[in-house]
Amino acid sequence: MAEKFEEKDFTNEGFNLKVWLKLAKLFKPFSKFLLIQIGLQIVMAVIDVLIPYLNKEAIDTYTNADSSIESLKMFVIFYVLIILSTALFNLLYFHFCGKTEMGFGGELREKCFRKLQSLSFSYFDTTPTGWLMARMTGDISRLAEVIAWSLTDMAWGIPVMIFSAVVMFSTNVNMAIIVLIVAPILAVLSYYFQIRQLKAYREVRKANSKITNDFNEGINGAKTTKTLALEDHNFKEFKHDTKEMKNVSVKAVRLGATFRPLVQFISSIAIAAIIWIGGDLANSGVIGFGTLMMFIQYAQQFYEPVRMIAAILSEFQMAQASGERIIYLLESEPTIVDTPEVIEKYGTIIKPKPENYEKIKGDIEFKDVTFSYIQGETVLEHFDLKIKAGQTIALVGETGSGKSTIVNLICRFYEPTEGELLIDGVDYRERSIGWLHSNLGYVLQAPHLFSGSIMENVRFSRLDATDEEVYEACKLVNAHDFIMSFEDGYDTDVGEGGSRLSTGQKQLISFARAVLADPAIFILDEATSSIDTETEKIIQYAIENIMKEKTSFVVAHRLSTIVNADRILVIKNGKIIEDGKHSELLKQHGYYYRLYTNQFNEDLKAQLFNEQVTY
Ligand SMILES: Nc1ncnc2c1ncn2[C@@H]1O[C@H](COP(=O)(O)OP(=O)(O)O)[C@@H](O)[C@H]1O
Ligand SMILES: [Mg+2]
Repeated sequence: MAEKFEEKDFTNEGFNLKVWLKLAKLFKPFSKFLLIQIGLQIVMAVIDVLIPYLNKEAIDTYTNADSSIESLKMFVIFYVLIILSTALFNLLYFHFCGKTEMGFGGELREKCFRKLQSLSFSYFDTTPTGWLMARMTGDISRLAEVIAWSLTDMAWGIPVMIFSAVVMFSTNVNMAIIVLIVAPILAVLSYYFQIRQLKAYREVRKANSKITNDFNEGINGAKTTKTLALEDHNFKEFKHDTKEMKNVSVKAVRLGATFRPLVQFISSIAIAAIIWIGGDLANSGVIGFGTLMMFIQYAQQFYEPVRMIAAILSEFQMAQASGERIIYLLESEPTIVDTPEVIEKYGTIIKPKPENYEKIKGDIEFKDVTFSYIQGETVLEHFDLKIKAGQTIALVGETGSGKSTIVNLICRFYEPTEGELLIDGVDYRERSIGWLHSNLGYVLQAPHLFSGSIMENVRFSRLDATDEEVYEACKLVNAHDFIMSFEDGYDTDVGEGGSRLSTGQKQLISFARAVLADPAIFILDEATSSIDTETEKIIQYAIENIMKEKTSFVVAHRLSTIVNADRILVIKNGKIIEDGKHSELLKQHGYYYRLYTNQFNEDLKAQLFNEQVTY
């Protein structure tokens, strides 16, 4: 049963060990790269601490007149080697960061994608597409980036602080204390600013996505806006959103602008104190000038990791929120699943055992079925219906009466809340979803085509079909002619979601797709509603041909498509109020009679009107 979707905001929670442990498990295959990165960072930290020390040595030792030129040469060679090796280590580090980021991100994307494919219809009823898109794109990238780059930056920052503290304390305790005293102040300050800044940026992103949405609606809804004269209203809303965007952006920038100078100011004070006190010591010969310089360099270098670690900690909060949302998605369970016994016998969707599939005859029975999408809102109640194999059943009734619900239940896109649905006398939950779906042809009102060629799109229903068989199927539904009229014929690219074709053309292609599969049960849910009357008449014959010998359900607005059905069911509020052949229902002078005569008159009017125009 679908629950109402609630956007969980994970961002304000404390450290969540459980989530990190789960993420660590997902990360495991990439941990070897991470270890290499950490090793490289530690080596680079040692070098970064070594360089000020070498500078000190250079000044304090080689400025003395009695030092030999030979040892200076050695020193210079050593120095150059160190600089060169830093470049090499950096290069390696970037290489492995990229490997970790792309590897882990790719793995998460794949896992989430698989999960999305396994989830049931009801999940997509209640989870906004935008939310899912944000998980698949933003959250995964952010998490992979933070783990690959920021986590390993810590492996540089912490050793740099420790090693330079050790060198400083062993050189001069008083001066070391001056450098260290400022560090906690900077740490607290940095952390505070980072958190505020991240929050501000989050607001900027929110405002930005609102504006994107405005643009989107402005473009996609342009026609509707014009016909409803909503331009002024929409523009006001847009203006409000841009103003908000400006406010939050200014706030974010202002935070950044205060923070940097403040940090510089505080670290300058520490450096000034060192020059002041250290200058005195150097003048009086207690320490060398090289040592003074080393301390100044350490002070400058010491605060960088402090600031960085504060930044990383706050980044980790955001990454944790991303991680929680990804885990939340990965842990969603499909509501419609096969039992272990069924899987044992028939396999899963991904690994089916078609050799165990029973052949479908096509008897279908609803046995005391009660169903609701949302708890408490019953759509079908104690619904009974028995259909003999091979019959063509037409469903008519007002919008919202429950026609699609009935066929969705047959397709097992949803399952009965109570009661059972029998196919060939067996509850369909005793056989696998794969078994049913491989015997089902389904054409929707808004058919979906995948990016790719027409040929590929038709062949999706039976991947081993030959080109000839695809042509056959297309000819049968009268799609062949319009396909051949394209320059590239069957190789024509349909565009994203089939955007380069008209809805009618998309429907014909999905008809061909269903025909090619040659299913035992055939379902057309308002499938002809976007095909013009002429084409409909032409494919009418084809549809009837296909449906012969198969159990078929036709939900149709236009009654001409259903007069030949074996049974017509009139549905109202989830109940069958009339049931019979066309001629029988007409005799009853009931709902169907009124529907038919009304539409008949409409058609007649349209015809007369057309003729007047042509004369
Ligand atoms: N995914 C859904 N979630 C919640 N309610 C739904 C959903 N689909 C349909 N309904 C509700 O179920 C009832 C029957 O809808 P439906 O079977 O789609 O009608 P029809 O196909 O006859 O137009 C309607 O009241 C509709 O609002
Ligand atoms: Mg419907």
